[in-house]
Amino acid sequence: MSSQNIIIAPSVLSADFSNLGQEVNDIDEAGADWIHLDVMDGHFVPNLTFGPSIISSIRKKTKKCFDTHLMISNPDEYIEQYKNAGSDIITVHKEVCGHLDKTLSSIKNTGCKAGVSINPGTDISGLEYVLDKIDLILVMSVNPGFGGQKFINSSIQKIKKIKELVQNFNIDIEVDGGIDDKTATLVKNAGANILVSGSFIFSGENKSIYKERIASLR
Ligand code: DX5
Ligand code: ZN
Repeated sequence: MSSQNIIIAPSVLSADFSNLGQEVNDIDEAGADWIHLDVMDGHFVPNLTFGPSIISSIRKKTKKCFDTHLMISNPDEYIEQYKNAGSDIITVHKEVCGHLDKTLSSIKNTGCKAGVSINPGTDISGLEYVLDKIDLILVMSVNPGFGGQKFINSSIQKIKKIKELVQNFNIDIEVDGGIDDKTATLVKNAGANILVSGSFIFSGENKSIYKERIASLR
């Protein structure tokens, strides 16, 4: 796959939260294609992050696509709020959606693109019935909740299966968790075209590293 087609979506989970607006600004200027926003509820995942009001406040800092990853137990109740906060894409987890078809329709009805995420231990079954409502499939390559975890290798096999599943559809394959310059090559070769990366991009002595790190993932 040509590196020109690869979308890099830095996760601000690893950014300096005390300076979040500036971080969004800096990552935009460093060449981020999308901004990945990890929303955690302390219930579906054992961590808490931020909600619609913070997303809304950083919306003014960049024109880049807001890729909102909802790691929450009851996404249906919040779709409208995340749309209004400025999300361009809303991704929900298959594990919490008893009515996935309906949830995807609700997201599409807001005008946002719709994504479905699957945890490392979740299989892809059932997705074949809702492909016409999906814009992207987000493969978790760590158990969601925290940045800086080790990439889980079985994700590679899963990406290949998904690549086959979506071959007749216009669906992106995004990978999230443990992505650095080495694992990026593995997931791109398997068929992923959107790479989320948090700690690899944001960890460093200073912001001058952001551009280099983003470029190294392409
Ligand atoms: C994990 C989040 C990821 C996380 C990735 O629950 O969904 O987006 O920020 O962080 P790294 O790249 O450090 O694994
Ligand atoms: Zn994420």
